[in-house]
Amino acid sequence: MDNNKVIQSFQQDSDRFLEKLKGNEEIPVNKMDLLKKILRFHEHRYYILNNPLISDSEYDQLYNALKKIESAHPELITPDSPTQRVGSSINKSFETVQHLVPMLSLENSYNADDLIDWDRKAKEQSKLPVIEYCIEPKFDGASISLIYENDLLVRGTTRGDGVAGEDITNNIKQIRSIPLSAPFSKYGIQQIEIRGEIVMTKASFTKYNESLIAQGLSPLANPRNAASGSLRMKDPKEVAKRNLEAFLYHVSFYHKGDNDEPFTTHSNSLNLLWELGFRSPQKEKQVVQGIEEVIKHVHDFELMRDTLPYEIDGMVVKVNDFALQDKLGMTTHHPRWAIAFKFKARQATTKLLGVEFQVGRTGAVTPVAKLSPVQVGGVTVSSISVHNEEYIREKDLQIGDTVLIERAGDVIPQIVKSQPELRDGSEVAIQFPKQCPVCKSELFKEEGEAVWRCINIECEAQVMEKIIHFVSKDAMDIKSMGEANVRKFYEMGLLEDIPGIYNINFETVGTLEGFGKKSIDNLTAAIEASKQQPLYRLIYGLGIRFVGETTAKALANSVEHLLDFATKTEEDLQQLDDVGVKVAKSIHHFFSSEQNIAMLKELETLGLQLVNTKKETVVSGGLLNQTFLFTGTLSQLKRSEAEALAEQHGGKIVGGVSSKLNYLVVGEDAGSKLEKAKKINTIKIITENEFLELIKE
Ligand code: IVH
Repeated sequence: MDNNKVIQSFQQDSDRFLEKLKGNEEIPVNKMDLLKKILRFHEHRYYILNNPLISDSEYDQLYNALKKIESAHPELITPDSPTQRVGSSINKSFETVQHLVPMLSLENSYNADDLIDWDRKAKEQSKLPVIEYCIEPKFDGASISLIYENDLLVRGTTRGDGVAGEDITNNIKQIRSIPLSAPFSKYGIQQIEIRGEIVMTKASFTKYNESLIAQGLSPLANPRNAASGSLRMKDPKEVAKRNLEAFLYHVSFYHKGDNDEPFTTHSNSLNLLWELGFRSPQKEKQVVQGIEEVIKHVHDFELMRDTLPYEIDGMVVKVNDFALQDKLGMTTHHPRWAIAFKFKARQATTKLLGVEFQVGRTGAVTPVAKLSPVQVGGVTVSSISVHNEEYIREKDLQIGDTVLIERAGDVIPQIVKSQPELRDGSEVAIQFPKQCPVCKSELFKEEGEAVWRCINIECEAQVMEKIIHFVSKDAMDIKSMGEANVRKFYEMGLLEDIPGIYNINFETVGTLEGFGKKSIDNLTAAIEASKQQPLYRLIYGLGIRFVGETTAKALANSVEHLLDFATKTEEDLQQLDDVGVKVAKSIHHFFSSEQNIAMLKELETLGLQLVNTKKETVVSGGLLNQTFLFTGTLSQLKRSEAEALAEQHGGKIVGGVSSKLNYLVVGEDAGSKLEKAKKINTIKIITENEFLELIKE
């Protein structure tokens, strides 16, 4: 889809429009089609190529301009307008619809012999000495089928029973890597059915599960369940939030009238899908001759499995030539021209030996299942969180049960299910404690929550966990302190609370075994250095409920001094990015506590930074009032990071090239902005490295 000319022309058009918008000019109605094309181009750069050319805010400006034109001229809204993804109404039910071609399953193979056997049959049937194969990942998600008619996406369906599935078009439209229209007609194709897999990346899955746990809900066992659950959600807006990705790997049907065949091999069909803007496994595929090469490739790929951002559970080997595929045909269950090669399972069964209850820094009591140690996906698992009482009930867990566990790649292992049919009567129900296992005070559960909490703020477990969190890598990053030392110092009475970190008696520490001069020097230096950590790290380190790193950054940026939060209302807080009702309540609650305020004042007296230094550097920043614009693809920084860096040093970001611009920072494939800047003598044109040097100065 992209060549340099096309890219440059889109970039020039974007710049032109952005400049107009900056000057409060309107984009004329007759430019609406171009505006839509520009937005689709940038969506493709962002969602398929992972290589955006404009900032999120520039995209939003263009998007809002289109929305504005459309609200003035609703009759001109087309179904494939980028604005038509969002805003679909709630799904009442999902209608059952017939697939154009049944969605068959795949035959499975587990080793080289299985593949050799399959290849032998295909060679016998086709009477060919060697067969060309196309190999691609077997995406582990939820399968879907899409139908495009006259270039428009008209339907998205789940697999269902293979013959008919559920119409989930509204939800499918929320997945931004799926184009709402694609120029199939250029290839004479009037109707086409494409199959693929919806996946949730490992990173999104981890984040999603963390948010479920934070809300006291049960996490999901694996990204596959998360993807398939997402597709059947009632509210399409919720689907949009799930960060789903779509891989399209199979053209199952197309109608092309009298036109020539658009492709004659599977690999070419993947190339064409990619050209048309789909996320096909165009880059991941490999075409090879003969089964020996297949065997080598699938084994090599298995070794890379964990480096992928999404889960795959094997490889799919397909006969590349379509004419040969037709000749080989299919059974009622699977095509004879394709086979799945399954990787080693990441599931295992083991015994649930008992449950321990741990108290976290927020007082939440988490049951942790102790398991008979078992190998899953290369690691030994011997304990696993079972989250809360509700989860234990849902999964029907009892001590002594055989349980199926799964470790999806680098994702934390989860229990998939118990196996009650294997019980022999010796199993024991899991009793949730009524009292805190550490301080013995009574546990409480808030209405609508699944989590039991110890609300004694002096509970040793909580205090210790709070200190451990405070010193941790993403918070104040006090290296060489670590969890073990916190526990040791706490238990010896050398450390009682967070401010206590800055008052540790190192003479006593020096008398302990394993603490020589060098380790004490390192520790004191790390503690001292932490006093200069930026405000957001301190905020994150305080462990306020629902305040993760991103929220901590937004909070830090919104004040001059940390104690300013003591005067803010919940409503004030809700105005901030990333802060909803629940988060605002929690922050407000934290800063309403006299004890907490006293602790913060003590930290300030001890020399910690409670001032928003970012704002300070802006005032004294070396780039004060200099204007910056970034263009082209940067190699070391994301566009948004580079912009933030310039701002942190006092610079301002501008939207277009004009005599007001001081620095144009150019990356690869810089287009019209660079050309324009060359004509204005006062603009300094610098590279990314020169920009980084400038910041250092
Ligand atoms: S081809 C008619 N290719 O695996 C053959 N399937 O276990 C159509 N899957 O139902 C399927 N990645 O949901 C194909 N690259 C890939 C795949 C793939 C994942 C899924 C698909 C299929 C299941 C069979």
